Parts: sequence; C-alpha cells; structure tokens
Amino acid sequence: MKKLSLLMLLAIAMVMASCVTVVNNENTGENKNETVMNTTMNDLLTRRSVRSYTDEVPPMEVIEEICEAGTYAPTGMNKQAPIIVAVTNREVRDKISKLNGAVFGPDNDRDPFYGAPVVLVVLADTTVFTWKEDGSLVMGNLLNAAHAKGLGSCWIHRAKEVFETEEGKAILRDLGIDDAKYVGIGNCILGYVDGDYPEARPRKENYVYWIK
Ligand SMILES: Cc1cc2nc3c(=O)[nH]c(=O)nc-3n(C[C@H](O)[C@H](O)[C@H](O)COP(=O)(O)O)c2cc1C
Repeated sequence: MKKLSLLMLLAIAMVMASCVTVVNNENTGENKNETVMNTTMNDLLTRRSVRSYTDEVPPMEVIEEICEAGTYAPTGMNKQAPIIVAVTNREVRDKISKLNGAVFGPDNDRDPFYGAPVVLVVLADTTVFTWKEDGSLVMGNLLNAAHAKGLGSCWIHRAKEVFETEEGKAILRDLGIDDAKYVGIGNCILGYVDGDYPEARPRKENYVYWIK
C-alpha cells in the first residue's frame, strides 16, 4: 500500500513537472520573439555604410544567407523583378570595380568598392512597372542582412552605367541574363570591417510629420 502511494506521488510529480516544462517553453517562446524583434530593431538602427574592408572573403554560407534575405524583399504584385549577381570571384569583382570607377572618368583608378572582397549587384527587369522600387528594397534587405550577419556593407551606385557598357553587358550575357531587359540598381559591397565601425550622423529635423 505504502509502495502504491509512493508510486502515485511520483506519477503526480512527473505530470506536474511536465506542465512546468510546457509553461517554461511558452515563456521562452515569448521571450525569444521579443529578442528577435529587439535584434531586428537594433540592426536597423545600427547598420552603417562601411568604407574600409579586410581582404578576407566571408564564408559562402553567410553570403548565400544574405542573398536569400534579398530575395524575400517585398516586390510589386510579387513579380520578383530584381535579380542578384553575387560576385565572389576576385577577377570579376575587380573588373566591375574598374568599370564603376571609369564612370567618373577614364583616369580614375581608385577602388569604388573600398577593398570589399564581395559585391552583390542588384539589377531589375524594367518590363515590370515597379522595377526600381523592387530593386531598391532588395538592396535594403541585403544591406541590413549583412549587418545582421556581422558583415560590413555599403550601397555603391552606378550599377546602371556599368551594365550599360559592352563589358558589363558581356558579364550578364555570360550568365544567360537578357542585357536588354535588366538595368543595374546598385552594388551591395560586403566584407569584414577594417577599423572602427562608423557612427550614425544625427537625423534631420522634421523627418516625420505626424497626423494623429
Ligand atoms: C542610392 C544610394 C547610392 C549610394 N551610393 C554610394 C556610393 O556610390 N558610394 C558610397 O560610398 N556610398 C554610397 N551610398 C551610401 C550613402 O552615402 C550612405 O547610405 C549615407 O551616407 C548614410 O550613411 P549610412 O548608410 O551609414 O547611414 C549610397 C546610398 C544610396 C541609398
């Protein structure tokens, strides 16, 4: 009899313990959501344009994850007009950088990619009405995702001009991309930050007008 009541007590204790676990899990779930939200807000507020990089190429999985975040940007009518040309090949990266610098003039030999080893070029299909907006949102996702993954990034312009040149068009054609349809939106350069992380400049006054 004594043995039976002991067993019953043990069973009750086990049931109670499992309930506590469920409650704890639920609590952890809530906290996790909060943490995710806080991290997202923090990333959005602390991302800055980085203009100094080490040579080290980040792991391919990280670059792939950043690209994936780009593909989840909202697009008009979900047409997914943009494409991303992810360049980790040093030779091609240098070629695109040279073409980019040449937009300023033929004698310009500064690296407009600030030494970043990776460039994600966003182009968009101009036959889609919202191509520019779609492409810009992809750029935004890439920049923020890079920051979330601990990498530096910066929007480098003149992708439009670069991929209007014969050499730029040839890069697209080699990938089977219709160079008549796609226009460059921007270059998201990526890499490990060399030196101090930049600080945000103050926001202008009257950025937000409220109608309450
Ligand atoms: C459309 C666009 C084009 C840009 N082009 C360049 C560029 O060619 N070179 C560069 O160093 N930064 C470029 N930037 C980065 C801006 O200079 C940067 O976002 C701005 O100074 C604010 O700094 P933050 O990104 O650190 O907040 C560009 C940004 C945008 C949105």
